[in-house]
Amino acid sequence: MKSKSPSLRSAIVICIGFASLANSVSAQPVAIAIQADKPGAKINPAMWGAFFEDINFGADGGLYAEMVKNGQFEFPESMMGWFKISPSNSRGEVTIRDAEPFRTTNPHYVRVASQAGSPFGISNTGYRDMGVRAGEAYDFSAQARLVSGRSRVSIELVGSDGTTLATANLGGLAQSWGKVTATLRPNATDAHARMTVILQGEGAVDFDMVSLFPQRTWKNRPNGLRADMVQMLADLKPAFLRFPGGCIVEGSDLSKRYQWKNTIGPLEDRKLLINRWNYEFKHRPTPDYYQSFGLGFFEFFQLCEDIGAEPLPIVNCGMACQFNSGELCPMDELGTYIQDAIDLIEFANGPATSTWGAKRAAMGHAAPFNMKMLGVGNEQWGPQYIERLARFQAVLKEKHPEISIISAAGPSPQDERYRYLWPKLVELKADIADEHCYANPIWFLSNSTRYDSYDRKGPKVFFGEYAAQSVAIVSTKNRNNWECAISEAAFMTGIERNADVVRMASYAPLFAHMDAWQWTPNLMWVDNSNVAATPNYYVQQLFAHNRGDVVLPVTNNSPLKENPPIGRVALGTARASAEFDDVKVVRGTETLVNSDFANNADGWSGRGSWQAAGGVYRQSSANGNQTSLIGEKTWGNYTVTLRARKLAGDGNLTITVADDDAGAWVRWILGGWENKEHGILTHHAEQDQLLERVPGSIENNRWYDVKIVLNGAKMECFLDGRLVQSAEVLPRRVPALFTSAVRDEKSGDMILKVVNPGDSASDVTIKLNGAGRLQPIGWATILAGAFIDENPVGKPASVVPRESMVSGVQAEFGYTFQPRSLTVLRLSAPPSAN
Ligand code: AHR
Repeated sequence: MKSKSPSLRSAIVICIGFASLANSVSAQPVAIAIQADKPGAKINPAMWGAFFEDINFGADGGLYAEMVKNGQFEFPESMMGWFKISPSNSRGEVTIRDAEPFRTTNPHYVRVASQAGSPFGISNTGYRDMGVRAGEAYDFSAQARLVSGRSRVSIELVGSDGTTLATANLGGLAQSWGKVTATLRPNATDAHARMTVILQGEGAVDFDMVSLFPQRTWKNRPNGLRADMVQMLADLKPAFLRFPGGCIVEGSDLSKRYQWKNTIGPLEDRKLLINRWNYEFKHRPTPDYYQSFGLGFFEFFQLCEDIGAEPLPIVNCGMACQFNSGELCPMDELGTYIQDAIDLIEFANGPATSTWGAKRAAMGHAAPFNMKMLGVGNEQWGPQYIERLARFQAVLKEKHPEISIISAAGPSPQDERYRYLWPKLVELKADIADEHCYANPIWFLSNSTRYDSYDRKGPKVFFGEYAAQSVAIVSTKNRNNWECAISEAAFMTGIERNADVVRMASYAPLFAHMDAWQWTPNLMWVDNSNVAATPNYYVQQLFAHNRGDVVLPVTNNSPLKENPPIGRVALGTARASAEFDDVKVVRGTETLVNSDFANNADGWSGRGSWQAAGGVYRQSSANGNQTSLIGEKTWGNYTVTLRARKLAGDGNLTITVADDDAGAWVRWILGGWENKEHGILTHHAEQDQLLERVPGSIENNRWYDVKIVLNGAKMECFLDGRLVQSAEVLPRRVPALFTSAVRDEKSGDMILKVVNPGDSASDVTIKLNGAGRLQPIGWATILAGAFIDENPVGKPASVVPRESMVSGVQAEFGYTFQPRSLTVLRLSAPPSAN
């Protein structure tokens, strides 16, 4: 993106200084100052990368270009993906068999037996059909065996309207297994074609390993990858590729974990495995989702090499997904898992004469892949993980000190699991810790300074999975819109400024098929014929293409916007029944709520187990979490008083304040943690944060006087008139502008990234201190749009990078940053100075 010459750029929009947007600028002028002669940390060349997982049909049905689903007939429902084609006047049988198979490791195959009359056969649906292009070549192949008769076999591509797009006849059927091939060239483009295998005339034929591949794959490799998807990935310029996930590494139980050794060698020996995303979400079940491993570990390494990305494989650490079974490999059996990691290093880096290096060489790559990093575990937490990581680390550091180990830091960057893990990782002297964060845009906007205060001597950070969620984690309504993407960009400026701590980062997940996804949002969406780059993709691309080599100190005096906690009040219980009474919410002299529950609970939202009875408000279920809300989301600076008593159950009482009706709230937990502590918990942008816990308990059947004072962002909690705890809550300070600056050592360019999430343009004075002589012309690449803008598959994109020339660049010059924009400014020294 950087290398276009000025003449090429003359065709693009030109935008100069303040003038062009002068009518809609914000009132307050802002200065951004770069200290060009005081470079800071070196930026990891592998800073911005990509995270790949076979989710959303990312591999099978996605990147892996095989078009036939279940071509090996090894799915538990052996005919899944296949239909019998049996016109009414045909007679025949389709059976799944396993006697004398083509391979004992791949035991099932199909027998198609026709008694003639009419063409008879089977049709494959593909992965949500097959996308074919007119005139392009598609290679059919199968293992086949003539069982009886003299049937002629033809292969057809059939369009979505039933017309035949291409036909080829198979010749040379033998009575023992042998490979048969044919090439099909459809006469029309169709995104929803299917393939049929038809017997003409009487006879029976066995088929296995049925396959259809476009000849045009990435690098035209047989058994290759979808060229358009890899191209889009390559255009991102990811400096590393993490694979194969994600939760898929862990498996819902250990038998379903990802085992790389099952994914290499001849295709027919790669052992099919159910994909964990097949059954993970009841709202998006995908019963035909299996892993064929046609895209296996060899292909992942090869892909990395092709696109110039460092390979970052992740291995199972002896723990299944902790959101599922959490099954643990006993410590005395962990050796197998550790050996798998060691063998993987040999497979990637060992000489072709070594056991595993020889397997790589046999697959066509005698030279090592030069792997430098290895992840141990995906999204693990707890002492069980630390125990296992320590074992892995001890062996790997001894045998392979050259490999950096990526360790897990839990599923959320600021919850209890994270707080437990971090000091343990410090103790273990972990190389790099993998933080994951799926939160809504406000989290990303208000946490851009997260790494400013990280201990520079602790483990380095891999911000290994992140994506802003427009609604909520795993909501099917999440969108890849510009609001999410711009918030990620804002956070990424904080990563870049802290490049000495954060060494790597990757958005997740990478790909999703429009008709077969389980998880949203995703970086790229595809259908059978197209790939779309989301606004989030372009953010990643702009950072990756403008990475720079060294951080330049930058200050920006744009105002901070304070968002004090405001919102509704809620009474609640967790695994407990309780009664509440005399609830008052008072703001200054104004009484907002006065509920004595003498006759009713008007204004309260509680239903079912909540009832006003006998002059109290009773919550009668001792199960789950129960809440009842009252008030307005605009309320702030108030005092809540009430009486409460727990009746039964082993749980706790909760009083919530500042519930903003958009997923943020602050909660006082009374008698939590097995009735040993009270605590203040905030929930903000999908992240729980426990601010403080103090020893304390509550007795059953005893009335307590509860008081909470919310003053600005300060919360004070009283029990029976005694201050029990207090905290500063939800300090959501969002700067008006987010900035980072770097220098590209080769070109000498200073690169300034500015995110303006606001609704108005921002006039800024840019000060380039200590920059020396400068070219008067610079270049801006701008991503901008409305917050709801997306880039849908197969339709014109709304949020795309646009370049413009910047004139008048000097030690101090003015520039106007567009509303809701990410701008990358490249400013150069004159050629003679280079
Ligand atoms: O990216 C989707 C999933 O989110 C990953 O598999 C997992 O690591 C995380 O929970």
